[in-house]
Formats: sequence, structure tokens, C-alpha cells
Amino acid sequence: MCQAPTVLYSAQQIHARVSELGNSLSQMIPISETPHLIAVLKGSVIFLADLMRAIRRPVTIDFAYLSSYGSGANSSGAVKTFSAPKSSVRNRHIIIVEDIVDTGLTLSSLRNQLLDQKPQSLITVALLTKPSRRRIDVPVELIGFTVANHFVVGYGLDFDEKFRQLPHLAVIDR
Ligand code: IMP
Repeated sequence: MCQAPTVLYSAQQIHARVSELGNSLSQMIPISETPHLIAVLKGSVIFLADLMRAIRRPVTIDFAYLSSYGSGANSSGAVKTFSAPKSSVRNRHIIIVEDIVDTGLTLSSLRNQLLDQKPQSLITVALLTKPSRRRIDVPVELIGFTVANHFVVGYGLDFDEKFRQLPHLAVIDR
């Protein structure tokens, strides 16, 4: 590990797909409601920044910092919550913004934490999903791209804190 990343989706392809996701989300939430986006740190920050501008109505945002990954490229299998969202989700339309759903453990843990607080609705939008890696069945209502069992970096996603600033999504060989 690890060679130069190979481009998987260009910045233009990502931009087009994020616009579509924003349109879909705009239609899924009642027009009179303000959706509350909860982004999973750190990988989803760039996705959140673009997605919230693609939703054509007011939104509010918050962050959750939890991870099943340590440093490197493999899930530890145990989800740690470093920081829960600070805002109340009760009776609100919540949209979880996730960079990539891999085993599904991180998303499942966050969903359960939020569902305990009785939101009005709860949906997840993930930029990427790797279904072949799933260890738990967890709903993901909107997906940007489905990828094979690659380790993906760029557009906020890292390997050992590297590559987050790439404007495109790329694969590193392991
Ligand atoms: P899960 O709990 O196994 O679904 O892991 C989800 C989290 O693992 C994501 O939010 C990422 O932080 C990290 N992750 C999983 N796969 C990748 C990848 O291919 N590239 C970068 N981060 C990844």
C-alpha cells in the first residue's frame, strides 16, 4: 500500500449526481418542513456542503462523529461515538448524510440513536455504498453511487487522513 489513486468518478460526475440527490430530497420532505441534515464526520463534510446547496429550501445542519474504522482501511467492527448531534431531533424530518456505507455498522448505530429520540421521519442519503461488504441490514433510502469492494478516497473520504481534498473519487489498491 498504496499506489497513486485511480479516478473512479470525476468532479463533474459527482456534481451531477449530488444535484440529482438534492432534487430527490427536496421532493421527499413536505414542502412546509425544514429538513435537518446530520452529517457523519469526518468523511461527509464535502458531500454535505454540496448537498445542502442542492436542496432548494431552507435546511438546518448538525454533525455526528462516530466511526467503526481506526486508522487504515478496515472496519474494527465496534462503533465508537465520539460526539453525538447536539440539536434535538424530536418531531423533525431528519436526513442522515453519510459518505460511504460499508459494513453498515456506523449507520445502524447512528440510526438507532436518532430513532430513540422520536424524529418525525428519518432517511439516509449516502454518497457511496459497498453492498458486498455489508454486515448488517440497514436502510439507505438514497445512494449516489454503488461501488465494488474497493477502498475509495477523495471528495472528503480518506485513507489514514490522506486524500480527503481530492475533487474526485478515486480507488487505492490494497
Ligand atoms: P461502516 O460502519 O463499516 O459502514 O463504515 C462506514 C465508515 O467507514 C465511513 O463513514 C467511512 O468513514 C469509513 N469507510 C468505509 N469504507 C471506506 C472507503 O472505501 N474509503 C474511506 N472510508 C471508508
